[in-house]
Amino acid sequence: MLIAVLPGDGIGPEVAAEALRVLQALDLDLTFEEAPVGGAAYKAHGHPLPPGTLDLARHADAILFGAVGDPDCDALERALRPEQAILGLRRELGLFANLRPAKAFPELLGASALKPEIAAGIDLMIVRELTGDVYFGTPRGRRSTDVGLREGYDTMRYDEAEVSRIARLGFETARKRKGRLCSVDKANVLETSQLWRDVVIETSTDYPDVALTHMYVDNAAMQLVRDPGAFDVIVTGNLFGDILSDQASMCVGSIGLLPSASLDAAGKGLYEPIHGSAPDIAGKGKANPLATILSAAMMLRYSLGEPEAADRIEKAVATALAGGARTADLGGSLSTSEMGDRVLAAL
Ligand code: NAD
Ligand code: IPM
Ligand code: MN
Repeated sequence: MLIAVLPGDGIGPEVAAEALRVLQALDLDLTFEEAPVGGAAYKAHGHPLPPGTLDLARHADAILFGAVGDPDCDALERALRPEQAILGLRRELGLFANLRPAKAFPELLGASALKPEIAAGIDLMIVRELTGDVYFGTPRGRRSTDVGLREGYDTMRYDEAEVSRIARLGFETARKRKGRLCSVDKANVLETSQLWRDVVIETSTDYPDVALTHMYVDNAAMQLVRDPGAFDVIVTGNLFGDILSDQASMCVGSIGLLPSASLDAAGKGLYEPIHGSAPDIAGKGKANPLATILSAAMMLRYSLGEPEAADRIEKAVATALAGGARTADLGGSLSTSEMGDRVLAAL
């Protein structure tokens, strides 16, 4: 099996290196090929997603992705910004389904931004649509108004096929878990969301065994800190899912803990932490690599048919945490590679 390794920018290479060490320690038949992406690729090749990188991603069996984003590149025209690399990969590879699990670690309840007894119940899965919504809708751009004011505009849109395919995945996911699906939208205000809700309800007739509820996104943000344990599976659009998953990370304890899988219709996937390139701590050895290590576990489970190896990694992470391993974001002093060492030792 060929794994494309795209480390990217900032802490991306630091956390990807630790995930790679863990994968290499497993004694599986995996080959790794690295390619530049993001600001690093722009600086070396003039484009954040060079053709060679996209080609590698296309023919690899799975992709391990660090993070992209570089303050040096924030003034570039949008098409050349580092973030276009991850958006381009999602679009070009048809990675429409983003799974972002958030589960409490009993050892880490003290790191949660919530009271420990509230954080203890967290075990949810955010199923985020990843190739539509206001992220990709057109028209979008900048223009001048009639009175000469600068104006920026984007288009929020979904068609019914895009909604029903992610809704199905939400129902299927709920079916394998506790059987509860909460669809999050803003149907009280947005046409896009009303269509979303209508289609989710229509799709639900095929899943009578799943208990479906609907929630407006503002209420969902509130319920996520009030009683996160009440959620099982959340299905939502691209923008709302982006925001709610960062919020869920602090309910668990740190943004450095949450992994993700971005899957196409055939189950091929790109695996990355939900966090970004963290320019504020890049190069300092401070980043928590667990989100990326846990993303590697998701890769083994969802794309490589190695569920036992995935279990081993997840157990090793839990053992390291139970043994007191903590990076700075968790109130400790381990460096990125020392945290990697602790996971490897537990493995
Ligand atoms: P961020 O997730 O990079 O960082 C937010 C905060 O969390 C920072 O204080 C950072 O130090 C901390 N943090 C993030 N990951 C951490 C880790 N593993 N361990 C410890 N602390 C961690 O979000 P941001 O600052 O809004 O964005 C920075 C750049 O990353 C931007 O260019 C943004 O576009 C990009 N970004 C990329 C991705 C991606 O590649 N998928 C995701 C999110 C943001
Ligand atoms: C994420 C990131 C990306 C997103 C950005 C970098 C395009 O925030 O993966 O969560 O908004 O999807
Ligand atoms: Mn995000």
